[in-house]
Amino acid sequence: MTLRPVHDGNLDSSPSAESEQKAGVMDGQVAIVTGGTGDIGRGVCRALTKAGATVVALDLDTSQAEGAARVLECDVTDPAACTAAVNQIVDEFGGVNTLVNLAQQFVVHTPLLEVTDNDMRVSFDSGPTATLRMMQLCYPHIKARGGGSIVNAASGGATLGMPGEGAYAAAKEAIRGLTKVAAPEWGPDNIRVNAICPVATTIPDKFPEGVANSIPLRRVGDPETDIGSVIVFLAGPGAYITGRTLQIDGGAGSWH
Ligand SMILES: NC(=O)c1ccc[n+]([C@@H]2O[C@H](COP(=O)([O-])OP(=O)(O)OC[C@H]3O[C@@H](n4cnc5c(N)ncnc54)[C@H](O)[C@@H]3O)[C@@H](O)[C@H]2O)c1
Repeated sequence: MTLRPVHDGNLDSSPSAESEQKAGVMDGQVAIVTGGTGDIGRGVCRALTKAGATVVALDLDTSQAEGAARVLECDVTDPAACTAAVNQIVDEFGGVNTLVNLAQQFVVHTPLLEVTDNDMRVSFDSGPTATLRMMQLCYPHIKARGGGSIVNAASGGATLGMPGEGAYAAAKEAIRGLTKVAAPEWGPDNIRVNAICPVATTIPDKFPEGVANSIPLRRVGDPETDIGSVIVFLAGPGAYITGRTLQIDGGAGSWH
């Protein structure tokens, strides 16, 4: 199966952007970002690229791609598509150092009594099942490079147990479970696996009015400078962190 490369990304080729990229802490590294054309994904791709990585974004919807060297249309619920994508990336770019799992299909907010089997299936197929699949596919390649970093998107709505988020919360907490198990299993291979609970957007009005004022830092995070920067840090050799959940939420306190 060959995946359609949608385009070669929208990289800024101005001299300043080029020198910034060359000076990056991720020079020579290859990073895969699932959900890489989404709201947070676009910022994460930009941050990783500016840090020097060659970034490949995988997504169902490739219309809004930004900041990646390559964008592949890939449904992470499709095992053959995921296998083909990882093989193609390794063939073309020589390996994988970092995997960021952001892809997630959202189901309508529903009280628990109305959550359906289909809600659960959609949440789990695109969430933990796809996350584990991508982790398994990338594992040998990250190991072959002497180790690296995997970052999985969890959610503060799930750690808090927000009403109406049953199927989504269950899927996100399953992702944290996988993350915790991967840490001791893959730590000896120098593969660090962490989860993040982000609060970030570039989309006006995505969050209800007043959300920023409920956050100690008084603003909603930026996908590139607030979330991407932490993922770049986790990809670096100085990150002695694995199996943890980092709440990148401006202090919103999404934790019981
Ligand atoms: N934005 C936030 O503040 C926030 C808060 C908590 C958790 N999160 C988590 O962070 C991640 C990114 O969130 P976001 O706000 O950018 O969401 P988003 O909806 O903008 O991006 C998700 C991306 O995943 C893609 N996707 C969905 N199903 C897919 C599939 N089967 N195969 C391939 N791609 C698929 C979508 O097309 C989309 O581009 C998600 O996992 C989300 O649950 C975000």
